[in-house]
Amino acid sequence: MDRDFPPDFVWGAATASYQIEGAVAEDGRTPSIWDTFSHTPGRILGGDTGDVAADHYHRLDEDLDHLSDLGLDAYRFSIAWPRVQPGGSGPVNPAGVDFYSRLVDGLLARGITPVATLYHWDLPQELEDAGGWPVRDTAYRFEEYARGIVGALGDRVRTWTTFNEPWCSAYLGYGSGVHAPGRTEPAAALAAVHHLNLAHGLGGRVVRELAPAAQLSVTLNLHVIRPASGSDADVDAARRIDALANRAFLGPLLDGAYPADLLADTASITDWSFVQDGDERLAAIPIDVLGVNYYSTTLVQAWDGVSPRVTADGHANSPHTPWPGADAVDFLPQPGPHTAMGWNVDPTGLTELLLRLHREYPDLPMMITENGAAFPDVVAADGAVHDVERIAYIRDHVNAVADAREKGADVRGYFVWSLMDNFEWSFGFERRFGIIRIDYDTLQRTWKDSAHWYKARVAGTRG
Ligand code: FCB
Repeated sequence: MDRDFPPDFVWGAATASYQIEGAVAEDGRTPSIWDTFSHTPGRILGGDTGDVAADHYHRLDEDLDHLSDLGLDAYRFSIAWPRVQPGGSGPVNPAGVDFYSRLVDGLLARGITPVATLYHWDLPQELEDAGGWPVRDTAYRFEEYARGIVGALGDRVRTWTTFNEPWCSAYLGYGSGVHAPGRTEPAAALAAVHHLNLAHGLGGRVVRELAPAAQLSVTLNLHVIRPASGSDADVDAARRIDALANRAFLGPLLDGAYPADLLADTASITDWSFVQDGDERLAAIPIDVLGVNYYSTTLVQAWDGVSPRVTADGHANSPHTPWPGADAVDFLPQPGPHTAMGWNVDPTGLTELLLRLHREYPDLPMMITENGAAFPDVVAADGAVHDVERIAYIRDHVNAVADAREKGADVRGYFVWSLMDNFEWSFGFERRFGIIRIDYDTLQRTWKDSAHWYKARVAGTRG
């Protein structure tokens, strides 16, 4: 049964710049770490790159019309730093800014609210060459970039999100190396965590100054971590992973300090001396809404010291861990069903996460900024995609949001990931999350059954 939502609940769809835009060398854009990484042999399944992706850069109006036809309230997109500030320093590039200005105006003209993310992983390559996120200066460069783009788009954007999933940027980018820039240095991963948190504070301050009427947010991929048993060792493993995955961000961003257990757990890797006086205060700039991305749950147990290691944490495989200081934790496979990513489907995890956040931060409104599923889509003889599993996934998770709301969680919106099929990072075009299918040969857009279903679901909440 479809659950009720109030008429002012925000329904949307999400994308990210490198995953859909293509046009990587046009109008002054310079390479990001994802251009370099995707062009490095062996890094991406099938050798795919974002060079063309869904060609959204050239099909802006058509894609905006799809959003409008879907009847959505809001669109969550991200801005490519190397388009707006090529090379990551110096003045803004008018042509790059113009693309996002047209995007925002096109949304507003269609009555759709723009929700913009400043950083969804496409760091200018020059800044990585200068050290990347493990280096403090990158946070100041981010502040400068934010000043340029927020200055240009300002209050036309309703919600400015500083970062998407800094967990991935830090731990997958610098720990396990399965994301760009592909480094495998645990101490650098933790330094990256801090500089991303600091950059959130610096960029957030710019948003407050230049777009005072806009909302400020950050999107986190908080993990729902369950211990395999109630034993002290398993419960402690869950605590340790919670510190790295969740409290390394919630602590500085919402509580104004890193949790003591995180610092203790990682003491053999780093002394955290990169945290300077005042950083945590800066990072804790008050936000208006917390973005929550949710796909799956995580099951951990303490390693017994002899058995073969189990590392089914849902992230791409690497001989290097994305979990610094957690060498004695195993990540167990979980019961199905599973999506094409191998992620277990468990909508109760979403309710649990929202209720935890509600308990710990009762006054903080939340938005589901990503939720959705990859399945092996089949194009039927009539050209349709009968993606019943995706519909079920979205329906059940939307209902899980309703459950959390009923129990008091202040969740204001839901954005499906994703508006269209796109470049799924290290899995390339092999994994499809869209409710709109992209034919990568013709670049034609076709609504899957899930798009028709979502449109009706959204319309149904309007009475
Ligand atoms: C999230 C990313 C998003 C997309 C989904 C499937 O981690 O933010 O870009 O790749 O996963």
